Amino acid sequence: MDREKAAKRLAQLTEEINRHDWLYHVKDQPEISDAQYDQLMRELRELEEQYPELVAPDSPSLRVGGRVLEGFATVSHPTPMLSLDNAFDAESLLQFDKRLERLLGQRPTYVVELKIDGLAVALEYSDGIFSRGATRGDGTTGEDITENLRTIRSLPLRLSSSETIRVRGEAFMSRDAFEKLNAAREQQGQPLFANPRNAAAGSLRQLDTAVAASRQLDILVYALEDAGDHGMTCHWQALEWLEQLGFLVSPHRHRFDDMEKVIEHIESWQQKRLELPYATDGMVIKVDSLDLQQKAGYTSKSPRWAVAWKFPAEQKQSKVIDITLNVGRTGAITPTAELEPVQLAGTVVSRASLHNEDYIKEKDIRIGDLVIVQKAGDIIPEIVAAVKDVRTGDERIWQPPSQCPVCGSQTVRVEGEAVRRCPNPRCPAQVRERVIHFASRGAMDIEGLGPAVVDALFRAELIRDVADLYKLQVEDLIPLERIGEKSAANLVSAIADTKKQPLARLLFGLGIRFVGAKAARLLAEEFGSLNTLLQASHEQLVAVPEIGDTIASSVVRELASPEMQDLINRLEEAGVNTTQPKKQTGGALEGKTFVLTGTLDTFTRDEAKALIEEQGGKVTGSVSAKTDYVVAGENPGSKLDKARDLGVTVLDEQELVSLLRS
Ligand code: IVH
Repeated sequence: MDREKAAKRLAQLTEEINRHDWLYHVKDQPEISDAQYDQLMRELRELEEQYPELVAPDSPSLRVGGRVLEGFATVSHPTPMLSLDNAFDAESLLQFDKRLERLLGQRPTYVVELKIDGLAVALEYSDGIFSRGATRGDGTTGEDITENLRTIRSLPLRLSSSETIRVRGEAFMSRDAFEKLNAAREQQGQPLFANPRNAAAGSLRQLDTAVAASRQLDILVYALEDAGDHGMTCHWQALEWLEQLGFLVSPHRHRFDDMEKVIEHIESWQQKRLELPYATDGMVIKVDSLDLQQKAGYTSKSPRWAVAWKFPAEQKQSKVIDITLNVGRTGAITPTAELEPVQLAGTVVSRASLHNEDYIKEKDIRIGDLVIVQKAGDIIPEIVAAVKDVRTGDERIWQPPSQCPVCGSQTVRVEGEAVRRCPNPRCPAQVRERVIHFASRGAMDIEGLGPAVVDALFRAELIRDVADLYKLQVEDLIPLERIGEKSAANLVSAIADTKKQPLARLLFGLGIRFVGAKAARLLAEEFGSLNTLLQASHEQLVAVPEIGDTIASSVVRELASPEMQDLINRLEEAGVNTTQPKKQTGGALEGKTFVLTGTLDTFTRDEAKALIEEQGGKVTGSVSAKTDYVVAGENPGSKLDKARDLGVTVLDEQELVSLLRS
């Protein structure tokens, strides 16, 4: 196809696919099959590959992600992103209403909306094209997450008319998508997200835009900034306009003339909200008229014309059938209440963590007790209290275990700590958790080695600890239940691949107490090899920035133990790498951050980057107040303007060369 024809066809395809995205993700009324959609998308991508210069700023191919960002630029919000005052009962809503009536000299009409529990975002459109999106941040400055927001299918890339507007909304993940994501993470041994809000926030702060694209997020828009400048007279009208422009606006919005009706309406949602596919933590009540909004004004934190009503957590009664114990990787013994199953906030609850023995004592929770259960943040079940006045006398007071429930060792509770521990490092429960941790994403990242496979390996006595993983042969695995020949081979090769992992991952994987991923990286970068680290004294360890007494003592103590020494020897014998390049220190550019823009004469960007990094400097993708230097070549982009705005030092190529030489 010639260029002219391609340009025409691409424009058509872009419009058509965007319309189908809107029909599917906003209107919930798809008109074509997935296969037909995929066909259109394939055609678009092929043409775009042929003519990359013809990719439109609203091309749906931009939704797929794939760019890896180096960081997020900061964005200052033209109008601050405020929060809302909270009301927890009807009484405070009536007071809010009275105060407004006094302030305004009339009774306002209210719009009531659901309060979606996600991440507040600010979106900008210029001439109808999505141009920038940011997080709330501290309300005044947020982070530029444009690339990640673009991957959200319910976000229009082009509006139905060429408006230049700023809108606000909530990016969120449905409960369903959240549960699927966590199930997949659990299988891969990755840490779970506590709730859909954290999952949404974590997804949008990913530097790899392909990850955000895979996360099934949505955006509901709830406010038009400076609505008056766009001819609006009330909020309701603004919401309708936003819907026409192509945004997803919640259909659950209502208008009321008096607060009593508002309260009735809100109460009707207390149960109904649990049937929604996404989490809501309350409702928002807003004065409809923009004139009256302006008259009511703002405090430094929130508008005086709006209030958030928080749903009380749903509570149910259940019975504690038993208190069971779980032994973690570091020997921590956690009690869990086994409950008679109850339906609560959308799921069946049959267990609740009791955290530690002090918690049980303080709440006086006994086996056989009737208890009140609620879901914190509507997700994690917790016991609020025991219903003491219905006790029959048959309830049993729970005693902290004097012996480990798995290996029988005498348990210990260190003064000042809330947890009781099994002190036996060879305790099968601890060993199991250590292997799971060793294989997890942040540590050695062994694909296919989740909890179920680890259990099977122990049962078949194929491993005693992590060093044995490297001895596994394909033939050993095939007899195991549910492991086929192919996955056996994959697992063996995945394990072998991790022999090359850098020291930081190995060190984190060893599961030394208090040594998280970050401390492991700092130590690995400082000492460069496990051998050097083994010889390091407490003084040498605390001399590393950010390594304190607790971490240092733990490292010295645990690395010196005969068990650890033996484990390390066997890992080394198996050929596991125990080194990593030391961090370049003392480089002339140590701690300095650079941004490159435009074309350089004497080196490519990659070469310039390598030279800067060689001397300890860091190169990032976007300019912020923290940038030390912007290096501007031929045809610099907007980064140069930004640098000037922020007063960041700008270097030309010659100046960069002199800096590198000095
Ligand atoms: S209006 C000037 N409406 O709740 C304040 N906020 O504390 C404008 N939220 O983080 C906020 N749903 O992101 C408004 N329908 C809704 C909302 C909503 C969720 C979030 C918002 C903010 C928090 C307010």
